[in-house]
Amino acid sequence: MQEILKRLDEQRAAARLGGGRRRIDAQHAKGKLTARERLEILLDPGSFEEWDMFVEHRSTEFGMAESRIPGDGVVTGYGTINGRLVFVFSQDFTVFGGSLSEAHAEKICKVMDQAMKVGAPVIGLNDSGGARIQEGVASLAGYADVFQRNVEASGVIPQISLIMGPCAGGAVYSPAMTDFIFMVKDTSYMFVTGPDVVKTVTHETVTQEELGGAVTHTTRSGVADLAFENDVEALLELRRFIDFLPASNRAKPPVRPTTDPGDREEPSLDTLVPANPNKPYDMKELIRKVVDDDDFFEIQPNFAKNIIVGFGRMEGSTVGIVANQPMVLAGCLDIDSSRKAARFVRFCDCFNIPIVTFVDVPGFLPGTAQEYGGIIKHGAKLLFAYAEATVPKVTVITRKAYGGAYDVMASKHLRGDVNFAWPTAEIAVMGPKGAVEIIFRQDIGDPAKIEARTEEYRQRFANPFVAASRGFIDDVIMPHGTRRRVCRSLAMLRDKQLKNPWKKHSNIPL
Ligand code: HXC
Repeated sequence: MQEILKRLDEQRAAARLGGGRRRIDAQHAKGKLTARERLEILLDPGSFEEWDMFVEHRSTEFGMAESRIPGDGVVTGYGTINGRLVFVFSQDFTVFGGSLSEAHAEKICKVMDQAMKVGAPVIGLNDSGGARIQEGVASLAGYADVFQRNVEASGVIPQISLIMGPCAGGAVYSPAMTDFIFMVKDTSYMFVTGPDVVKTVTHETVTQEELGGAVTHTTRSGVADLAFENDVEALLELRRFIDFLPASNRAKPPVRPTTDPGDREEPSLDTLVPANPNKPYDMKELIRKVVDDDDFFEIQPNFAKNIIVGFGRMEGSTVGIVANQPMVLAGCLDIDSSRKAARFVRFCDCFNIPIVTFVDVPGFLPGTAQEYGGIIKHGAKLLFAYAEATVPKVTVITRKAYGGAYDVMASKHLRGDVNFAWPTAEIAVMGPKGAVEIIFRQDIGDPAKIEARTEEYRQRFANPFVAASRGFIDDVIMPHGTRRRVCRSLAMLRDKQLKNPWKKHSNIPL
């Protein structure tokens, strides 16, 4: 018996060593942690239950029969983060470059299937050379099996990808179908074809980092949500992030006790909006002052900065926040901001997370770049997402809400549950100057007349009371009371029930 137990210990130790000391050292030399070290940071101490430690590949081609490493390049199982269950897979670059074989894919699929059954998030730590070249089409089949599960799990359990090494070719499509992608600066990259292929096909010279590094994907492409300095920071932030999310679409968002009172007043908000309507102010100040304990987890902070999205809590419960940012492009909606916010709204709606929207939007960004880029379809995504969402929706218009953008930003007409406006709100078809230049075009040569007409329009329309008189705004509120009013609204909406008509699925403009 002792002998058998000893053998198990030895087998476990061999599996834990992955590709061996030399490759572990090489991994560390690149500034990267190993698959197991990463799980130790991500999960609560001692909570990891590993599965399939002894799984090996079945390939015999290219001398693979002699080269088998238990675990086959991915560490899988489940554990807890702050006491809450999560399923994990962590690719081990020290074993065949973390490449995905048929057996490696089966291990990932097993944890995904189990996560679906019990209703818990799947977190993938990706560090892989892609399809296991020696296995050919069997490895492509393995990828497709993971893709299929990504799609079926979408909207059922949260899926989060942390890119901590290479992720290239078709392999990028599994993370792309998950809900959030975090990347590590300098050591991770994602691209469909690498710099060499790019050079051959388009004659562009570009580095891996420029083509698909963390900065590129969090500032230019919007493929990734957040970029971190190193593995440790990424993993610790992921621990903080997961606290905001429900375990599945069957669960309510988690509640974290807070001492921050729901009726806390913020007098400084009364002077947040400048007297001059063309002067910007920082919408993030409003968000931080309204949520619990100043704690706002922003998503995509460096992409499409004209809209802000992220998670906060109100009286302990998670809310998704969407807000126009007047500091960037005056808070206009454009292609990127519409895509960014639409995806976020849909995530919240999938997972029963109420949406709080702060509006200061002068309209859609004009120009050929936007029109040729398809702003009509992209803007429609946000409109569609808000209109489709059945979760509680609370909206606060702080200043401008003009034109189609007024409708889009969780207006009453898109089933906004509670729609507030600050006294500084301007809700109209367009801004006073533009409006007067159209409806009083004959007076354009007479500046005095135009000035008088503009003032008249401003008095008549650039306020919240026209909309409030129609019931499109439920109340005009004091800025300092925003938190109290939003908290009360969310409490009132806690058991909201609303269903869309039965359909196979909708046809969102993609
Ligand atoms: C098998 C692989 C591998 C792979 C790396 N290795 N990628 N083994 N299949 N795809 C092995 C290497 O042989 C090496 O083994 C070890 O992993 C580390 O690789 P290195 O090249 O030494 O590391 P590094 O210099 O850091 O370069 C990493 C890399 C490079 C950039 C990822 O290995 C690389 O270009 N690999 C091939 C990538 C690729 O073309 N994959 C297929 C993509 S297509 P030893 O024994 O020496 O340690 C794809 C399709 C998916 O993935 C389709 C889904 C539909």
